[in-house]
Amino acid sequence: MSLLADRHGRTFPYLRLSVIEACNFSCSYCLPDGYRAMSGRPKNLELDEIARLLRAFAAAGMRKVRITGGEPSLRRDLTAIIDVAASTPGVEKVALTTNGTVLHKRVREWAAAGLTALNVSVDTLDRLTFERITGQDRLDDILSGIEIALDCGLQAVKLNAVLLRGLNDDQLPAWLDYLRDRPVSVRFIELMQTGDNREYFRQHHLRAEALETQLIEGGWQLRPRAADAGPAREYAHPDHAGTIGVIAPYSRDFCAACNRLRVTSTGDLRLCLFGEFGVPLRPLLQRDDQSTELQHVLATQLGLKKATHALHAGQTGLTPHLASIGG
Ligand code: GTP
Ligand code: 5AD
Ligand code: SF4
Repeated sequence: MSLLADRHGRTFPYLRLSVIEACNFSCSYCLPDGYRAMSGRPKNLELDEIARLLRAFAAAGMRKVRITGGEPSLRRDLTAIIDVAASTPGVEKVALTTNGTVLHKRVREWAAAGLTALNVSVDTLDRLTFERITGQDRLDDILSGIEIALDCGLQAVKLNAVLLRGLNDDQLPAWLDYLRDRPVSVRFIELMQTGDNREYFRQHHLRAEALETQLIEGGWQLRPRAADAGPAREYAHPDHAGTIGVIAPYSRDFCAACNRLRVTSTGDLRLCLFGEFGVPLRPLLQRDDQSTELQHVLATQLGLKKATHALHAGQTGLTPHLASIGG
């Protein structure tokens, strides 16, 4: 029986592990001034700490780990992290969320190390708009990396586009074209308000409802939710190899399907993307014989997980920007 269950009837077989907070992009909704390291910050978890963390989570019932950041590929040992995750007993899926800048050079190596799924941030298919949003003229490299990823035999390739009023809300035709022959899922994510982006949010937040109406009118059909699916709503169309997902965190029942826990790059457990506090796990990652104690802490903490996030109340918890917690 899984220890990873809460008092709201949810189970948490999915861990999102941030391995680094730094990022080489300066996305206007996340790190508009780029990442700046704060002096005195604790170091990122080391590989041996990550290995112990994953063993304890897997022993408690975790089956899928997503490696996030910041930008995980900025860690020199990313391939070793993937390898450690894939060889942890009990782990069935190893996913990575990346901005894709080194995909064209590295994705084969990651797949060989045991990566099973990949999510790449692509907010627009228009090169100039891409540069305007992310601060980097790298769209062509990223798109070619995605083509290579599609040849690597991964179980899933998903692209993330944050919906931004006035910036990328004219992109649906380009995406439909892109999805015709590519078996990828593009997920449109509603912009979330974080501690740092209040004014930006006011200007650019866009609900996904109009987009979903357009999809339905265009013959896209909402797929039945798989039992183990997360909060995205998935649409499919008979004429398209790809699918479309909608992540709408402001919809009322969003958190009912929550199946994930988070650990920050410095080893703090976060029960929710917009949770109020982090629980330092690092002291329990120093020796192999601490696994049982760590599992105990996880089970106890899960008893405190709230039914829903703080966003509905206009609060952002401790989350200044999503790079701090891995999205
Ligand atoms: P898979 O189902 O494993 O593909 O995961 P995912 O869709 O959560 O993966 P990804 O890392 O690509 O996340 C995409 C974005 O969705 C995140 O960066 C967040 O913006 C949003 N998101 C993911 N999980 C949550 C969640 O639990 N709560 C909220 N509010 N947003 C989330
Ligand atoms: N709201 C919604 N999504 C966000 N992301 C980063 N910040 C936000 C935000 N405020 C997304 C990125 C990336 C994923 C990891 O998180 O676009 O796809
Ligand atoms: Fe889970 Fe929190 Fe995300 Fe809601 S916002 S789905 S509770 S992590």
